[in-house]
Formats: sequence, structure tokens, C-alpha cells
Amino acid sequence: MTAERSILPLELRQVGFSAGRKLLIKELSCTFSANSRSVIIGPNGAGKSLLLRLCHGLLAPSAGSIVWHGAAGREPSFYQAMVFQRPVMLRRSVAANINFALSLRRVPRGARPALIRDALKRTGLSRFARHQARVLSIGEQQRLALARSWALRPQVLFLDEPTASLDPSATHVIEEVIDAIHRAGTKVIMTTHDLGQARRLADEVLFLHRGRLLEMAPSEAFFAGPRNDLAQAFLRGELLWWQRRELTPP
Ligand SMILES: Nc1ncnc2c1ncn2[C@@H]1O[C@H](COP(=O)(O)OP(=O)(O)O)[C@@H](O)[C@H]1O
Ligand SMILES: [Mg+2]
Repeated sequence: MTAERSILPLELRQVGFSAGRKLLIKELSCTFSANSRSVIIGPNGAGKSLLLRLCHGLLAPSAGSIVWHGAAGREPSFYQAMVFQRPVMLRRSVAANINFALSLRRVPRGARPALIRDALKRTGLSRFARHQARVLSIGEQQRLALARSWALRPQVLFLDEPTASLDPSATHVIEEVIDAIHRAGTKVIMTTHDLGQARRLADEVLFLHRGRLLEMAPSEAFFAGPRNDLAQAFLRGELLWWQRRELTPP
């Protein structure tokens, strides 16, 4: 990890995002600080992925502002990375996939082999270095996506449903890698639909529903009993059912 000053905290002020006439993110304000794992939860379609893309700068807000308070004139995107729900691997070797990510960041050629080796080791992929990335299992590809991001030594890492299509053992390995990335000093901001995962990984929880941030709380307090009634229903596994009942009256 670099000793550089952090670009955090990240502040969202009254952020809105619309597509056509639909307001998909509504008046969302919050602050992400360093050294904690922030986990965004909420039902399908709540806007979790959109929120990550807005924070990472892939989408521009239609209203409000997104400020990296520590950036001090530096380009924030240079200090961040994101792993998408379905990462795309190049038709190259595992090592070459990481090398490509480093080349995009203009990391000098001579510095790359050590970074690649380190990222492979930390994600348990060393023995796959020369394998074709696309023949790896989904779980291994997800680990490679993490290795590719980790090699960049980002200050902030965004993860969108990193274990969405994985079985419990592959999920466990990914969670260990996420934990190691956190312990190495990278700020993790992630989404998940898996409440067990949120309990295991989160330091703080953000509950999103229909584009609104309804609760943001330390993980312990949240899981002990959220203040928001929809968050309570979501924890009980009732929220989706509740929505459906609106559509089909008894
Ligand atoms: N580029 C887009 N244009 C229009 N609608 C979008 C776009 N991206 C996402 N949406 C819609 O915004 C809502 C939130 O999407 P998303 O952030 O993917 O939800 P989540 O990740 O919580 O499941 C969904 O209703 C989705 O269909
Ligand atoms: Mg999503």
C-alpha cells in the first residue's frame, strides 16, 4: 500500500440520477471514510449497482455532487478500481490479464512482474499464471478480477456483487480475499444481495430501496435492529413479498 494521502473521504451530496423520465437515484447523501468496509444492500433494482457506478465516476449524477475530499487536485480515478458483477477476461493468460490492467495504468514495465506475482499469490492463483483466463472456473475468474484490481494497489475498491453466481466454498475464498484487501489498507465499498455476506464483511451497512438511501449504520447496530421499517422487513426476508402483495391484492 502506498503511503500517499488518501483521496477519501468521499461525499455524496443530494445525488440524483435519472434515465429518461425515471428518477433512479433520489436525493442521496452520505459520506464514505477510510478504513471501513461499506456494504450496500437492498432488493433487486434498488439502485445498488448504479450507486457504485456513480461513486466510481462511470456515470455522472443528474443532480447533486460527488466529492473526493482528500483528492487535493489529484485525479481520483487513478486511485480507484472496480470489479463488476460479471467481469470480462481478455483472451490471454491469467498473468497477461493483470499485465494489461497495469499497462492501462501506465505502470512501468519493469515494475509489473513483481506486482503480478504478488497479486496472484494473494488470490491463490499462482499456479494458473500461464493458463488461459477464459478457461478458469467462474470462481477463479472472479478471483482473477480481484487480483487484477489489487495489482493496481487502489486506495478504494468498488465491488459489485462479487459472489453473485458462486457456490458457498467459492464464496468463502472470495470473502477471504476481500478481507485481505481490506487489511492491506484498501477501502472496500461493495454491494451484495447476500445478507449473510453483509453480516460477515460489513463494518457499516447502507440500505437502499427504490433509489433512496433509507438507512446507513454501523453493521452491529444495523443487524441488531435497523431503525427503518423497510430495512426491518428486508432483514426478515419480507420486503420482496410485501412489494408483490401491492400488485396482487388478496
Ligand atoms: N442505464 C440505465 N438506464 C435506465 N435504467 C437503468 C439503467 N441502469 C439501471 N437502470 C434501472 O435502475 C434501477 C436500479 O438498477 P441497479 O442499480 O442495477 O439495481 P440493483 O443493483 O440494486 O439491483 C433498475 O430498475 C434498473 O432497471
Ligand atoms: Mg446490481
